[in-house]
Amino acid sequence: MIEVKNLFKVFKLDGKDFKALDDVSFNVEKGEIFGVIGLSGAGKSTLVRCINRLEKADGGEVIIDGVSINDLLEEDLRKERKEIGMIFQSFNLFMQKTVYENIAYPLEISKISKDKIKERVEELLKFIDLVEKKNSYPAELSGGQKQRVAIARAIATNPKILLSDEGTSALDPANTGSILSLLKKIVKEYNTTIIMITHQMEVAKDICDRIAVMEKGRIIEENTTRELFRNPKTQVTKSFIKNLKDETEDEIINADDFKGDVFRLSYGDDTYKRPILSRCVKKFDIDLNILSGNINKLNASSVGYLIVEIQGDEGERKKALDFLLENKVNVEVV
Ligand SMILES: Nc1ncnc2c1ncn2[C@@H]1O[C@H](COP(=O)(O)OP(=O)(O)OP(=O)(O)O)[C@@H](O)[C@H]1O
Ligand SMILES: [Mg+2]
Repeated sequence: MIEVKNLFKVFKLDGKDFKALDDVSFNVEKGEIFGVIGLSGAGKSTLVRCINRLEKADGGEVIIDGVSINDLLEEDLRKERKEIGMIFQSFNLFMQKTVYENIAYPLEISKISKDKIKERVEELLKFIDLVEKKNSYPAELSGGQKQRVAIARAIATNPKILLSDEGTSALDPANTGSILSLLKKIVKEYNTTIIMITHQMEVAKDICDRIAVMEKGRIIEENTTRELFRNPKTQVTKSFIKNLKDETEDEIINADDFKGDVFRLSYGDDTYKRPILSRCVKKFDIDLNILSGNINKLNASSVGYLIVEIQGDEGERKKALDFLLENKVNVEVV
């Protein structure tokens, strides 16, 4: 559906070339929610602007449903842009227009009849659950409500793709949750493809099917959300995940304080429901001391972590670890 191939974007910085995008490639399937996470300056917004051609890439291609958007001329580009809805951190609503008029705007410029516009806006107002605010102005809405209106406006013309550039970053956790539910509902009902740009792992983990991690203009890691959590490969990903975890964990665990070996065990849907640890203790002559743990609810699955101390003689400890590995538990030394 969306193919991003070897994308480069270069800016001049103090007379030198600076690669804001450095050979970025990934594919997104129809109906998928694809996350791009990275720290400030990683190149996320630049990537979004190249995907909707607000910015022209200096190399590489963006192909949407088989059509390369790089070479499109004005007329075709305008048509293609209609297939891409955008939402932003700052909502970007028209302050002088009511909720109704904001949502109607893209339909008006698409020259749709007044009756059809009314029908569609009313349908959208129901969809975002803001029927009673249709005559309010943006200044009279909460942040979460503003973003709901911005989303309704973005999907008014039924775009194939929705790009969210930090669409939840200005919202508190409760509003973030309701916006994420709304986005999931859009995918379910309209089979829209969504690219979620965010610097918040708690957002990405909640909604994305797959996540790409960006650093310095490059994608340094990409995986299904579940595998990324189970087996993060880069330091950046690890620190994004770590920031999510129970903060007390690090305070409690100082491996030197324990006489046995301390491990981080991580396990997914297939394993966290089975009593693997208790079987392990029964099977081998070891003692197991649970120091900390939690389960992260991901989009459509869960990943659990436990920090444990394993005591016992070396042979038995080794057998216990092998048993855990055989049972698909990821084991890391703390
Ligand atoms: N028009 C521009 N001219 C020069 N440099 C730019 C321009 N736009 C972006 N940059 C630079 O490119 C890099 C990537 O910027 P970008 O806005 O894509 O980052 P980001 O990942 O979206 O960050 P944030 O999380 O803060 O929004 C930054 O170092 C930025 O200063
Ligand atoms: Mg940005």
